[in-house]
Amino acid sequence: MQTVTVDLAERAYPIHIGRGGRRLLGDIVNSIGDVHQVVIIADERVAALHLESLIIGLQSPPTVVTVPAGEASKSLDGAARLFDRLADARIERGDVIVTLGGGMVGDLGGFVAATWLRGVRFIQVPTTLEAAIDASVGGKTAANHTSGKNLIGVFHQPAAVLIDTDFLSTLPQRDYIAGLSESVKHAAIRDPALLHWQAENAKAILSRVPAVLTELIARNCAIKADVVAHDERERNVRAILNYGHTVGHAIEHLLGYQLRHGECVALGMIAANRLACARELLDQEIADCIADVIATLGLPQRLPRALDAAAVAEVCKLDKKVRGGSIHFVLLRDLGATERVTDVSDAEIAAALSVIQPRD
Ligand code: GLY
Repeated sequence: MQTVTVDLAERAYPIHIGRGGRRLLGDIVNSIGDVHQVVIIADERVAALHLESLIIGLQSPPTVVTVPAGEASKSLDGAARLFDRLADARIERGDVIVTLGGGMVGDLGGFVAATWLRGVRFIQVPTTLEAAIDASVGGKTAANHTSGKNLIGVFHQPAAVLIDTDFLSTLPQRDYIAGLSESVKHAAIRDPALLHWQAENAKAILSRVPAVLTELIARNCAIKADVVAHDERERNVRAILNYGHTVGHAIEHLLGYQLRHGECVALGMIAANRLACARELLDQEIADCIADVIATLGLPQRLPRALDAAAVAEVCKLDKKVRGGSIHFVLLRDLGATERVTDVSDAEIAAALSVIQPRD
């Protein structure tokens, strides 16, 4: 097992990573103290696979609430249904919520934990690669609004994150690969050595060799933990984690369920790099190196169908990162070095998009 700490003074917490990590849950709950009840909020598909083995170590049976799989559950209605169950179970402020599943359940369960009784403690048990290396670390909680993803939410740090790499073994390969996109992102913005390590170990990463998976997750969590420790509430440096996400979110919005989030982010990184090269901020060689790693890991380099550049630019302007009407773009200057720009024109977005449009 490896442990990475998110260093946030009185809100600091450990991220435990490794095979069989599920066995630590009982100890983690006991270490919190004053816990009368544990509630597990689980994705219904994940619960069917992993719930039984997770709860074995708990001293008393938890209350289990399952949430239908899929982003549609991550709404205020979905949260209200969970509040009803917490009320039925008489959950008190000293109790603990455990979220079991991917980013959807972690975000929604975290939002419910943050707001029930003005905040109860929660433990994240992510079961997707994307949630393990990104969404479960850093205390962002969320519900979707009809006008956009993650528009409702608060920062509420978990008491611990528990990543059992065996849980990732049931993940469909496409979802697993989509999660690798956040790893490419972390490497590009913060850790060039990780980018090269991923290229060299692509085969072992893609076949989920356990020791390699633990190392991959631990290295990513360390990057994310460091960024969050410097800027918990995204006032400055945390925004670099949005690299690839401006165009990525627009693609996700326009293509709905055709692509995974991570696939959109991969395309968003390629487009952002094109934009940076066009501004002579970034060398083409580095853009090519990142595109190669994206391809080696099996992530897409082109859209499945052509998108209208004006529509993409419009959606970019609806993004949460828009401030004072201008789009905030995170661009690379070099591997491990970023720059935030706010003056991106529609024409630049169209030019950047052209490199990811399908070939004729
Ligand atoms: N996923 C970006 C962040 O946590 O800030």
